[in-house]
Amino acid sequence: MTIKVGIVGVRGLSYIMGFKSIPGVRVEALCDLNEELLKNQAAKYNISKTYRIFEDMLESDIDAVVITTPMQCHVPQALLALEAGKHVLSEVTAGVTMDELWWLIEWVEKYKKVYMMAENYCYIPENQVIANMVDKGLFGEVYFGEGEYIHDIKELTTYNYGMQTSGKTSWRRFWQLGKRGAFYPTHSLGPVMKWFKGDHIKSVSCFGTGWYTSPQLRQDDTTITLCRLESGKLIKIRVDCISNRPHNMTYYSLQGTKGCYEAARGLGDEPKIWINGMEEKKGEVKWRPLKDFYEQYMPERYKNATEEQRAAGHWGGDYFIVKDFVDAIMTGIKPAIDVYEACEWTAVGLLSELSVMNGGKTIDMPNFRKNMENKDKIIKL
Ligand SMILES: NC(=O)c1ccc[n+]([C@@H]2O[C@H](COP(=O)([O-])OP(=O)(O)OC[C@H]3O[C@@H](n4cnc5c(N)ncnc54)[C@H](O)[C@@H]3O)[C@@H](O)[C@H]2O)c1
Repeated sequence: MTIKVGIVGVRGLSYIMGFKSIPGVRVEALCDLNEELLKNQAAKYNISKTYRIFEDMLESDIDAVVITTPMQCHVPQALLALEAGKHVLSEVTAGVTMDELWWLIEWVEKYKKVYMMAENYCYIPENQVIANMVDKGLFGEVYFGEGEYIHDIKELTTYNYGMQTSGKTSWRRFWQLGKRGAFYPTHSLGPVMKWFKGDHIKSVSCFGTGWYTSPQLRQDDTTITLCRLESGKLIKIRVDCISNRPHNMTYYSLQGTKGCYEAARGLGDEPKIWINGMEEKKGEVKWRPLKDFYEQYMPERYKNATEEQRAAGHWGGDYFIVKDFVDAIMTGIKPAIDVYEACEWTAVGLLSELSVMNGGKTIDMPNFRKNMENKDKIIKL
């Protein structure tokens, strides 16, 4: 069986090398409104079929599409692709309104195609090591986690990056920095939710700092969002895409009854854990570098990754993410980040917007699940 893939939105093409290194998979088609970029990328990666119009690419005999267009295009394009019988790997976030999320679930269930959200931060090796250690019970019962996405993107609010030099206002001015709340929550939340396996988000409260650095933008300089899980446990996420400061897009922490984890904060810091009973000297409460535990707890496929797989990008994660997508298509197993997780994680951002505009009011998360009835598709204030 050969799987033919088409990619829409070709600026980054972060997954292309991953697909190319999987036997039986071919990236056959590229689609982008920007003709010059489209031609350059097709030539660079030796791809013969190019389309400016997404619907035209769907008419071709591709089996799967990767959606890497701006956030507000994800659901409209995913619905068209599913209806055309294609599997979908979608960039984050899943969608930009609650209704879109419900349409998405309905269409995935109706057309019975694989939908996976490409939350690549779940594939960061450190996050995979921690997931493995959580599964093995090393942290005891985990009850608190944190994720932070700090990435000054103010300059991306106009098209002056990549090949785009028009200086016109970009989609990020509206759908990211033009919104309130944690508009981009999944990088922070996804890996942490994978550490709280089987749990679900029950409610969301969001607080914003207000506007200091760029008051013309609707987004607060920093937002803090608290997610209460069904178990009562707590996850805190910080999204800050405005403050003037160095990036830190991958800060996480985890606390359990027997130990804890903290990712690197920068300037020589490194990911570290403390686990009761694993100290170098008995009774000494001291951090140990996470890398001391890689040999034992790094998933085998990461340890055995070939040069080609590593070269796919993002710490080898860009290979494993597409491998999981392809495996879900080939074997029918649940995609690594399925539509229900995609919608729950994305909804944290959408509900946080309501919360922050209502003084941090706690908003209940709908229970995204198979065959969800219309009466349950509500947002309780
Ligand atoms: N997972 C990650 O680490 C990560 C990193 C960066 C961006 N992203 C996500 O990837 C997506 C794209 O981000 P970007 O920075 O590449 O955006 P971008 O604006 O730089 O590029 C988007 C591309 O999509 C094309 N496009 C827009 N509308 C289209 C349409 N209707 N049909 C065909 N092509 C269309 C544009 O011409 C452009 O080339 C966003 O959803 C963003 O959130 C994810």
